Amino acid sequence: MKILITGGAGYIGSHAAFKACELGYDVVIIDNLFRGYQECVDTLSAHFPNKITFYKADLRDKKSLQEVFTKEKIDSVMHFAALLSVNESMQIPYLYFENNTYGTLNLLETLREFNVRNIVFSSTCATYAPPVHAAEKDFSIAEDNPQASDSVYGESKFLMEKEVIWFGKIYNINYTILRYFNVCGCNPDAIIGYSTRPSMALMQNAVRGALNIEPFKFTYSQMDTPDGSPIRDYVNVLDLVDAHFLALDKMMKENKSDIFNVGTGNGTSVKEVVDKVVEITGKKFDTAMGEARKGEATALYSNTDKITRELGWKPTRSIEDSINSLVKWFMARPDGWKE
Ligand SMILES: NC(=O)c1ccc[n+]([C@@H]2O[C@H](COP(=O)([O-])OP(=O)(O)OC[C@H]3O[C@@H](n4cnc5c(N)ncnc54)[C@H](O)[C@@H]3O)[C@@H](O)[C@H]2O)c1
Repeated sequence: MKILITGGAGYIGSHAAFKACELGYDVVIIDNLFRGYQECVDTLSAHFPNKITFYKADLRDKKSLQEVFTKEKIDSVMHFAALLSVNESMQIPYLYFENNTYGTLNLLETLREFNVRNIVFSSTCATYAPPVHAAEKDFSIAEDNPQASDSVYGESKFLMEKEVIWFGKIYNINYTILRYFNVCGCNPDAIIGYSTRPSMALMQNAVRGALNIEPFKFTYSQMDTPDGSPIRDYVNVLDLVDAHFLALDKMMKENKSDIFNVGTGNGTSVKEVVDKVVEITGKKFDTAMGEARKGEATALYSNTDKITRELGWKPTRSIEDSINSLVKWFMARPDGWKE
């Protein structure tokens, strides 16, 4: 079985490529290296000799996609490639709508042309409107929660979902849309890790702060939560990747499309995450308040009933596991992958 991983030189895609190799897939990676790293692909290739074929290509260039699909007999696709900074998306909306939605459109059209029938698509909880039952203090979000993003990034992911769903309906392409919550952690042996620049991820940044790699700053405004900081749902990247392969198996067996949240179902506050990083590293680092992000929801965490019921998926890694893996990675590679 040959699997195409778009965005496989990036954070989550590289962890998916690692798992795919472990599971015995032949892996084809497409990445334009705009936010991904050649060194990451080289490391994967060295770790899994003859399992990975890499194409430096841009999804917006349909010809390159057609060349890849002509050379490689692709059976299924995991589509991670996208730009994902909320702040950047509000500064350069054109780039986000163009890269994310046009790239996905080309990919889907190429799937149609080459008769590829299975795609797992990375979506996000950023497509949801803030929870409707806030009055009862139940902030968990199920898949049928209304979608209405307050950022260009979230809106571009919503539009990508729509593209996937319409191509699925019209051309009988099976899709699984996975809406991730906050992704954290990395390979526990520090073989691959997290290098996203600029990093907007709380846990990753807190670990970098603790290891003195980069000053850490809180970027929230005061919230109506017990400790005043926002509550989020932190899912380990290895657990997340496991969900992709369970989804792919089920989709291919049952010939059926679906949508799932991927989170832990537990809310953890920003301050609690930082306290855990201090506890685990034993380093009390400076946590000044930086510029607060705009339009932040008070609490966002997943209702995980559907994915547990339908895919039998449950997270198995704790927040401590995620922090430990990041500490190991950043100790080995304080600057991440080479530019
Ligand atoms: N990291 C998170 O917490 C999180 C949460 C929710 C959803 N997601 C989704 O997961 C996916 C992967 O995110 P990540 O954290 O690994 O990001 P990342 O930036 O590390 O990886 C994305 C990769 O896609 C590549 N890419 C982007 N546009 C491309 C294009 N037009 N053609 C070819 N390659 C292109 C980049 O070079 C990069 O290597 C994204 O679709 C994102 O929306 C991430």
